[in-house]
Amino acid sequence: MFAPDIYLQRRQNLQAAGLSGLLLFLGNVDSPMNYADNTLPFVQDSSFRYFFGLNEPGLAGLIDADSGEAVLFGTDPDVADVVWTGPLPSLAERAASAALTRSQPYAQLATVLAEARAAGRAIHYLAPYRGETKIELGRLLGAHPAEVKDGFSVPLTQAVVALREIKGEEEIAQMEAALAVTGAMHVAAMQSSKAGVLEHQVVGIMEGIMRRHDWHLAYPSIFSKHGEVLHNHHHDNVLQNGDLVLNDTGCTSGEGYASDITRTFPVGGRFTVQQRELYNIVLEMQEAAIAAIRPGARYLDIHKLSASVMVERMAELGFFKGKTEDVVESGAYAIAFPHGLGHQIGMDVHDMEGLGEDLVGYGDDVARSPLFGLGYLRLGKALKAGMVLTVEPGVYFIPALVAAWEAEGRHRDYINYERFREYLGMGGIRIEDNVLVTETGSRVLGEPIPKTVDEIEAIMRM
Ligand code: GLY
Ligand code: MN
Repeated sequence: MFAPDIYLQRRQNLQAAGLSGLLLFLGNVDSPMNYADNTLPFVQDSSFRYFFGLNEPGLAGLIDADSGEAVLFGTDPDVADVVWTGPLPSLAERAASAALTRSQPYAQLATVLAEARAAGRAIHYLAPYRGETKIELGRLLGAHPAEVKDGFSVPLTQAVVALREIKGEEEIAQMEAALAVTGAMHVAAMQSSKAGVLEHQVVGIMEGIMRRHDWHLAYPSIFSKHGEVLHNHHHDNVLQNGDLVLNDTGCTSGEGYASDITRTFPVGGRFTVQQRELYNIVLEMQEAAIAAIRPGARYLDIHKLSASVMVERMAELGFFKGKTEDVVESGAYAIAFPHGLGHQIGMDVHDMEGLGEDLVGYGDDVARSPLFGLGYLRLGKALKAGMVLTVEPGVYFIPALVAAWEAEGRHRDYINYERFREYLGMGGIRIEDNVLVTETGSRVLGEPIPKTVDEIEAIMRM
């Protein structure tokens, strides 16, 4: 945990948002693998952890937004628990570690909430994303779980997003710690991806590095020579010289902060001329985007800037025709870049997405596009100093997409389908870094991880 005062300050900042009533934060419970005592690795609810710090199951936090008083609800361990788990802190000790002076048995939470409801007080809670949480909220609030899902508090969500999206120094340090391990994982993957090796053998090498730190993945790794499948979680292919491998892998630090890094490299350690040309286009897309990041800039516009760079360069190679602006505004460019430029990252790899993607990534100044491709952009709004985001442009050759669009003649004035057909089989290229918005621009977090063609070829020779 961070120092207790950090959690006190965060709760005081939330109280300053001016809400009235009770603010309820349910921590997560254990998720069984196949029976109750055999559990998946525990992952705490990020908003509970942000305000209350504790990383154990079965806790809840309640903040009185009017008085500022905060209470931790949980269960004191009894001797039967300790027989199985070893010594555990008392509930009061847990509370003290997050600068809370009050704690109460979890069994009293429903009564406290019922009394508040009877007194006409509002109870604010965040959107639940786990079935257990929906059921528990239903029990605590006397409502059906289906009603609970839609009854979350938009004002509380907006207040939490405004705090969590501006990262403090202690959070940046955690993200850079995660990136140090992630960098070692990516370098090891480059160096162990040799002809004849199975993809999951490389994934195992990366996970071994991470598990030596007792850390876990921030999301299931995407490691595949079929990088054109955007969320490809299969690792069954045998690598062959000349394959381009896309590796999108990140881990979660001790305090629960994620990294999300993608590198693409050739098995055998030498890019072909075609691979190098396209790789350098993706690199230019990423560099242009990073250079445009500053407070006030809308990420939607930076996405379009990155797409424009791609269209201009790929037009020189014969993939697109017509005016760049038309290719971008029509959405035709998405045949090669069908996802968003990036998302916020923090305690969650897609930070706060569980609170509602549009409430986190969009706002009064910008709405989500209905266009295929751009519609997948998770962050469109104006940036603020202290945000951390991923910048992850890509170029992909997706046989099903090219065939479907060509069959219907979609955007035929802008797309040279014959050229796309020639490149089917190349797979996908994505380059992703985690970038802090500063007062004047941006800073790529972490030590550099080999990224240029020369850097990647050099590290693969070692
Ligand atoms: N790292 C996977 C994603 O951003 O969707
Ligand atoms: Mn990402």
